[in-house]
Amino acid sequence: MQTEPPKTNHLQPGMQLSGGKYTIEKKIGEGGFSITYRAMQSGLNRAVCIKEYFPAGHSMRDTAHYTVYPQGIDDALFEKYRQAFRKEAETLASLQHPSIVEVIDIFDENNTSYMVMPFVEGRTLQQMVEQQGPLPYPEAVNYIAQVADAVAYIHQRHILHRDIKPDNVIITAEYRAILIDFGSAREFVNDKTQAHTSILTHGYAPTEQYSTTSRKGSYTDIYAIGATLYFVLTGTVPMDAAARMSEEMPDPRSVNPAIPDEANRTIIKAMQMKAIDRHQTVEEFMDDLRNIRPSQAATATTSDTAVPSRQVAAANPVTSVTDNKQSKAGLYIVLGIVAVAIVVALILALGGRTTAVDSHTETIASPAEQAPTPTDDSYNLDSQKLTDEDLRYMSKHELRLLRNEIFARHGYIFKSRDLQEHFNSKSWYHPITTSTYDVHLNSIEQYNINLIKQYE
Ligand SMILES: Nc1ncnc2c1ncn2[C@@H]1O[C@H](COP(=O)(O)OP(=O)(O)O)[C@@H](O)[C@H]1O
Ligand SMILES: [Mg+2]
Repeated sequence: MQTEPPKTNHLQPGMQLSGGKYTIEKKIGEGGFSITYRAMQSGLNRAVCIKEYFPAGHSMRDTAHYTVYPQGIDDALFEKYRQAFRKEAETLASLQHPSIVEVIDIFDENNTSYMVMPFVEGRTLQQMVEQQGPLPYPEAVNYIAQVADAVAYIHQRHILHRDIKPDNVIITAEYRAILIDFGSAREFVNDKTQAHTSILTHGYAPTEQYSTTSRKGSYTDIYAIGATLYFVLTGTVPMDAAARMSEEMPDPRSVNPAIPDEANRTIIKAMQMKAIDRHQTVEEFMDDLRNIRPSQAATATTSDTAVPSRQVAAANPVTSVTDNKQSKAGLYIVLGIVAVAIVVALILALGGRTTAVDSHTETIASPAEQAPTPTDDSYNLDSQKLTDEDLRYMSKHELRLLRNEIFARHGYIFKSRDLQEHFNSKSWYHPITTSTYDVHLNSIEQYNINLIKQYE
């Protein structure tokens, strides 16, 4: 007698993975390129979230053996993007941030790959707004600030999230915001197998994400953060970027008049259609939202940091004492502190000049002034044109490395072993993509490549 195989394409409750380490409880999501499950980890007896590589419409499962097979795409492509899924999981596993979901395990089984995360108890921002309507302003800003902090952290590492939206932020019972659902395999689904628009998250993706060749950058995620704040404060999904080409999107405040000025202004700027008109860094976005302009930030920080300890120390004894003796004692304390402060200031001025100046600069630097890319060599290949002088005396080998560095800076994963080894040893190299579609060169980079090629 044959039992009827399960009709669904996902793993069934009770099924075990990784030699019995994880037991599937239920499916909790099914996206463009993966299926998400809640599972139990034996031994530790804790709930985990397992994501299985399973590109929608291009995979099928042998339900008797659970093995996953490519469907309608060739094996090599399926395999290539399975590796990209794995690589993405490895990149995520190397990140450490309180608002970024942790990856605790990665393994291959059933001819596919799995990544394991702790199960974050809570509700997504999407669910919260659906259940209770727009969030109060301070609560919304609290969550967005945590998301922004996480996104600034990944941008520093040259990683883009590409799918920030209310559905991909979980809020815990302790009001912590956790960003989930990082995925470069998404590019694969975008580029090769489906119409772009069917996989884009409408309302949260700017127009450059509708095209595989447009350059994406921090501003792409910034649009999505602005759109997420739009939704959280208005309860309305922002208008599609494509539709906005012909129609005007209502300002957040016209949907919800209670939204403060700075939030309205910040969302409008973050969601500009042209990338160049948006905030260019997450820090700039947050300063705008907190009503701190770069120049104000500089003044505020300077006066805040210049004398706070002296002011507090001096003010307290004087204001808190009433009788004469005590106030005299207070006066001596004040004089003493002032004297110590003068001595410290003199020492700093004479001996510790460099340190003092450096730390001061660091505190007051506006986002625009901060170095955008940490480089550990002398060429800023994305912002400075190389000259003949730079290249004339380089060996063929050096030229090849320099040319490939331009791709490496974008996280390109090389096929040749020697390039892999060379760039893996660099602290700034964060491999994220095997797809040349994903590497968007600016005009200076393009210029530099052409020039290097002339010498190679
Ligand atoms: N670590 C996690 N803990 C708890 N729930 C999660 C976790 N990761 C994902 N989820 C839930 O599963 C859903 C789908 O996961 P997600 O990573 O967003 O994949 P996709 O959107 O591509 O299907 C999320 O919206 C969220 O509700
Ligand atoms: Mg998601």
